[in-house]
Amino acid sequence: MTYAFVLGRVYTLSLAELLEVLNVYGTSITILEASFEALIIQSDKSLDVEKLQKKLGGVIKILKIIDVVKKREQDSINFCLQNYFKPSKLKTDYLKNSSGKIQFGISVYLLDPTIRAFGEPKRLGMYIKRGLQDAGTSLRLVLPEYNSLSLASVSVTHNLLLQKGAEICIVAGNTKVYVGKTLTVQDFEDYGRRDYQRPIRDEQRGMMPPKVAQSMLNLVGCKATDTILDPFCGIGTFIQEGALQDYKMIGTDIDKQAIAGSEKNLEWFGNRYKIPKGKYHLDISDARSVSKFITHLKEIKAINKVNAVVTEGTLGPMYSKFPKVEEIDANFKFLAGLYKSCFEDFSNFLLKGSKIVMCLPAYKKGQNEYMMLPSLDFATSNGYNTVSVIPEKYAKNMAFLRVSPRGTVIYDRKDQIVAREIIIFEKQ
Ligand SMILES: C[S@@+](CC[C@H](N)C(=O)[O-])C[C@H]1O[C@@H](n2cnc3c(N)ncnc32)[C@H](O)[C@@H]1O
Repeated sequence: MTYAFVLGRVYTLSLAELLEVLNVYGTSITILEASFEALIIQSDKSLDVEKLQKKLGGVIKILKIIDVVKKREQDSINFCLQNYFKPSKLKTDYLKNSSGKIQFGISVYLLDPTIRAFGEPKRLGMYIKRGLQDAGTSLRLVLPEYNSLSLASVSVTHNLLLQKGAEICIVAGNTKVYVGKTLTVQDFEDYGRRDYQRPIRDEQRGMMPPKVAQSMLNLVGCKATDTILDPFCGIGTFIQEGALQDYKMIGTDIDKQAIAGSEKNLEWFGNRYKIPKGKYHLDISDARSVSKFITHLKEIKAINKVNAVVTEGTLGPMYSKFPKVEEIDANFKFLAGLYKSCFEDFSNFLLKGSKIVMCLPAYKKGQNEYMMLPSLDFATSNGYNTVSVIPEKYAKNMAFLRVSPRGTVIYDRKDQIVAREIIIFEKQ
C-alpha cells in the first residue's frame, strides 16, 4: 500500500512526529519520496488512517496513492497525465462510492519546488470534468484558490468532497507523478474548539497551539497509558492533548492561578472528550522541586513512574521589536540557571532512556536566522544528551529539512520575535 502524508507549514516538525509515531506503532515503511510538502511511503500492511490523522498534529491530509505515472523532466504535469484520467478509471478508482451529483476537487503537491505547476489544478480539473460530462456524469469541480495549487482542508470538508466524490491529488516529481485520492483531512474545527472554546485562555502567559502540543507529545515516542509530566503547564494545553491521546498526564506550575485555569480547562475538556478524572493530576509546584509531587503520586499509587517530560517552560519576556543583545543574554543566563536546577531534580524520577521534549526561545534576527541559547550545559552537565528531531538515517536524504546544527527545529509564526526552538533530550 502506498500513502502520501501532506505536511503542515512547519514541515520538519510534521515529518519528525510522523516518523516517530509510525515507529511507535511498529509500522514498517519504505520512504519512496519526501519533500517540504509531502512524504510518500510504502507500507506492508494497510494503515489505520483515521487513527493516524487524529494522532498527528502536523499532518494536513493522508492520501492513498493509486498509480505512479512516468514523467520526462521537460513535460508539464497535465501533459504526462493526458491519457490517465479516463472516465472508467475515475469511476472505479476515484469516485466509486459517490451517489447523486458528484463533487470533486483537485490538488497538486510538489516533490521539487522548481517544477512549474501554476494553473495545473484548473487544467487537470477541467479535463477530468469534460471527460466525465461527455460520459454522461453530472458533477461539480472545486478548485484551489487562484494563487495556490492545493485545496485547504476547510475546502475539502465544507464541499463534502470525501462524501460526495473525491479530492484527487497529484504529487509531482521530475520523473514520476504519484496520483491518488484523499482518505482523511485534519479536523480543523475540532482543533479550533480545543483552543478557542476553552473557558480559560491567557495570551499573556503564551499558549501553545493544541496542534503543536500534540506534535511535541508525539516526539517523545511514548506508548498509550505511559505517564508524561509538564512541569510548566500554564493553563494545561499539554495536559488536555496528552489525556486525549490516552497518556496519563501530570501538570504542575508555580503559579496558583495557572493551576486554577488548568483545572477549569480540564474539567471542560474532560466533559467534552470523555476524559476520566484519574487520567491527569494537577498541582502547584516549582519545576525545580517537582520530584516531591512525583514521589507523593507514587506513594498514593496514582502513578508508577514518569516516562517522559514534555513542556514549554517560560521563554522569557515577549517583545514587539527585536530586543537589545544584553537583554537576550540576561534571559539566556536566567533560563540556563532555571533549567539546570530543573534537570537536576528530574533525575530523581526519570530513568535512563527517558526523553524530555521542551521549548527554548529563539530570537528571530532575520529570515531563517535566530539567536538561540548558546550552551546546553544545563542538560549535558546533568547527564542528558540531545537527540536530533529527525533520525540521521532519514535526514541524510532530505536536504530540504530545516534542522538546526544541534538537531532542533524552530516553530515560528510570521512577525514573531521570540520563536520556539523545539529540542529533545535523552537521559543517559
Ligand atoms: C509559557 S507558559 C506555559 C504555557 C502552557 N504551555 C500553556 O499552553 O498554557 C510558562 C509557564 O511556566 C510557569 N513557570 C515559570 N517559572 C516556573 C517555575 N520555576 N516552576 C514552575 N512553573 C513555572 C509560568 O507560571 C507559566 O505558566
